[in-house]
Amino acid sequence: MASHILVFDSGVGGLSVVQSLNANPSASQISYLFDEAYFPYGELSQSVLVERTLSLLSDACSKLNPDLLVIACNSASTLALGALRERITIPIVGVVPAIKPAASTAKNQRLLVLATPGTVKRDYTQQLIDDFAPNCDVHLYGSTELVELAEAKLRNKSHIQERIDLVVQLSCPQAWTPDVVVLACTHFPLLQKELQQSYGNEVQLIDSGSAIARRVCSLLGIEGKPAELANDLGFAYTTAPKVDAVLASSLIQTGFKDLRLFE
Ligand code: DGL
Repeated sequence: MASHILVFDSGVGGLSVVQSLNANPSASQISYLFDEAYFPYGELSQSVLVERTLSLLSDACSKLNPDLLVIACNSASTLALGALRERITIPIVGVVPAIKPAASTAKNQRLLVLATPGTVKRDYTQQLIDDFAPNCDVHLYGSTELVELAEAKLRNKSHIQERIDLVVQLSCPQAWTPDVVVLACTHFPLLQKELQQSYGNEVQLIDSGSAIARRVCSLLGIEGKPAELANDLGFAYTTAPKVDAVLASSLIQTGFKDLRLFE
């Protein structure tokens, strides 16, 4: 029987991870859960975020019964992975900033870590920099506005490029250009085209999506084997009290069967 993967995020950002999973198909069934009721995670206090993800995901695992859980959220993974693995017994794959591959490709050792305000403050993020980019010139920039712009794009809002240009301008110190920008929030690959236009083509953008897809395939025991079937997208679930019709139709267009309330 096909494995059931539950992909989780605070909002639509985890869809960038679903895209990467579909690029390395594992013939799995994928459900998607997002916690709109507590969005944005990057602004929550650490204690609220740990308690919320522990209770919501324990509940989701018992109701939706997945075989594997992907925490498609850097803000939650860099804080709560340990506690989640203690509480939940199925394999859990977390998404954390791709600092290691970024450091190995940065020609002039200049890295910009673009994340949420929560992720830029985490000890976990600092530890990744100390371990994998000790000789790099690293700047961190936290932006909830970019998270909101990715949400707006999925809801078909216009004029987002001008606002992205402003965030991009603020993200770099004056007269400093990064070689590589680490997209350390799963919402940001949804803005890949706009961010690339704004940073310019000489700047490389790196995210964790393909590494996560490889890890999932390896945990499911299908790494390196061609999957004969595509993934099957199941339902998307939101914790928001009211389902947004525009978002629901956008999710159906991406292949989900429907958007349901998780309660
Ligand atoms: N997509 C999330 C992340 O990777 C969370 C964004 C938010 O809710 O602030 O950090």
